[in-house]
Amino acid sequence: MSTALGIDVGGSGIKAALVDLDRGEFIGDRVRVDTPQPATPDAIVAATAELVVPFQHDGPIGVGFPSPIVGGVTTMAANIDPQWVGARADDLFTAALGAPVAVINDADAAGIAEATYGAAKDVQGVVILLTLGTGIGSALIHNGVLVPNTEMGHIQVRGKDAEHRAAASVRENHDLSWHKWADHLSEVINVIDRLFWPDLVLLGGGVSRKADKFVPFLDVRPPVRAATLENAAGIVGAATAAAARR
Ligand code: BGC
Repeated sequence: MSTALGIDVGGSGIKAALVDLDRGEFIGDRVRVDTPQPATPDAIVAATAELVVPFQHDGPIGVGFPSPIVGGVTTMAANIDPQWVGARADDLFTAALGAPVAVINDADAAGIAEATYGAAKDVQGVVILLTLGTGIGSALIHNGVLVPNTEMGHIQVRGKDAEHRAAASVRENHDLSWHKWADHLSEVINVIDRLFWPDLVLLGGGVSRKADKFVPFLDVRPPVRAATLENAAGIVGAATAAAARR
């Protein structure tokens, strides 16, 4: 069985699990620690290194991170400490974990997982995965191949970032009904649709478990389905990408 360690760095938690790459499933339990505040590079890297000690893992390690990753560098910090802008994330994690670490965008990780094991597997054409959480992440996949670092959560929708209109956190923070939130999400998907004309839109993040509460209210052109790996997608995809990079 081939395995890799997957890590998902988020605004509220850092999560890790060993992944069975034949099946795209966790082996054993996922572990989690609260994201340190402030979520500076030093604090996050140290917390991650401590979190993964019990795995005693010496194979590939992948990290999904909420920023575009260009040449191993984190280039934006919408929902994480601004000190990450320009940080050499690949090098920082590699030094702290004592083994080569592949860092990729968190939504790209989820997209890789869905394309390899989930709802985008064997789908031809253009698939867009939107991860709905604190922000909105995106993965653009064409015939199973990812185009990295799309940042559709920052597309302007009536003068605001898409993620400030329709992230899952917007529904929670403003106590919106599912229907009202679905209207915001339709607006976002329709703007994205006019730019990319996807054959399929997948919705991921924890809220995808409740897809039946809001997908029926969406008023959009492309077919929309819930992603299938839910919150495991980021970890599974980071592990998959790390193994592929070896
Ligand atoms: C970040 C993306 C990330 C998304 C989901 C956005 O604010 O800019 O890089 O994928 O949040 O975490």
